Amino acid sequence: MTDDRTAHWDDRYAGAEPGRLSWFEAVPERSLTLIRAAVTPRAAVIDVGGGASRLPDALLAAGFRDLTVLDLSAEALARSEARLGPLGEHVDWQVGDVTRWRPARRYDLWHDRALFHFLTENAHRAAYLDRLACAVKPGGTAIIMTFAEDGPETCSGLPVRRYSPEALAQEFSALAPGAFRSEEVGRFTHVTPAGAEQRFQYSCFSRI
Ligand SMILES: C[S@@+](CC[C@H](N)C(=O)[O-])C[C@H]1O[C@@H](n2cnc3c(N)ncnc32)[C@H](O)[C@@H]1O
Repeated sequence: MTDDRTAHWDDRYAGAEPGRLSWFEAVPERSLTLIRAAVTPRAAVIDVGGGASRLPDALLAAGFRDLTVLDLSAEALARSEARLGPLGEHVDWQVGDVTRWRPARRYDLWHDRALFHFLTENAHRAAYLDRLACAVKPGGTAIIMTFAEDGPETCSGLPVRRYSPEALAQEFSALAPGAFRSEEVGRFTHVTPAGAEQRFQYSCFSRI
């Protein structure tokens, strides 16, 4: 999967201003609120599938200094690095496929907005859960945002798997039995830069 997918995402980021991409949000308010409710700015935070998101900007402004962003697309990460300038030195930018990635350390908080729903194959979801379980410290938090069951069937021209919070919790228990406890869930609507509404769910899990 990786080579084709990498080319797909690099093309998407190279072909448009980040602010025109359907998943763009100028200020990631919901993510920031959930992260700040779970950890202090001293926490080690990883954003998987972070792309060119403004989340590192918001976390740096909130005083976080131990940040990692992992994404398939070097193009996306280069855009964030250029935007952040010297502040970007506080971020560990990692180009890679989360389903093959080997975490070199552990994190207090894992954040994923709109990556997991692209994993339509069982083996890829199992690999993701394996990395997630290894990378998050016991007592740490995973925040997973996906299209909800009434959300779009595709994103960026790719098929997605949609979840209710209950279905996501079941998937986590099936793939990583006993590893995560669902703590807080909710739903929200993302409005794309073109004005379309996309229904999402978010789920916060704690690592047992
Ligand atoms: C819809 S975008 C969301 C980007 C970002 N989370 C945000 O909210 O702006 C999905 C991102 O996931 C990345 N991605 C997709 N599959 C991935 C994988 N297997 N490993 C790492 N990143 C992946 C893409 O390159 C893309 O940046």
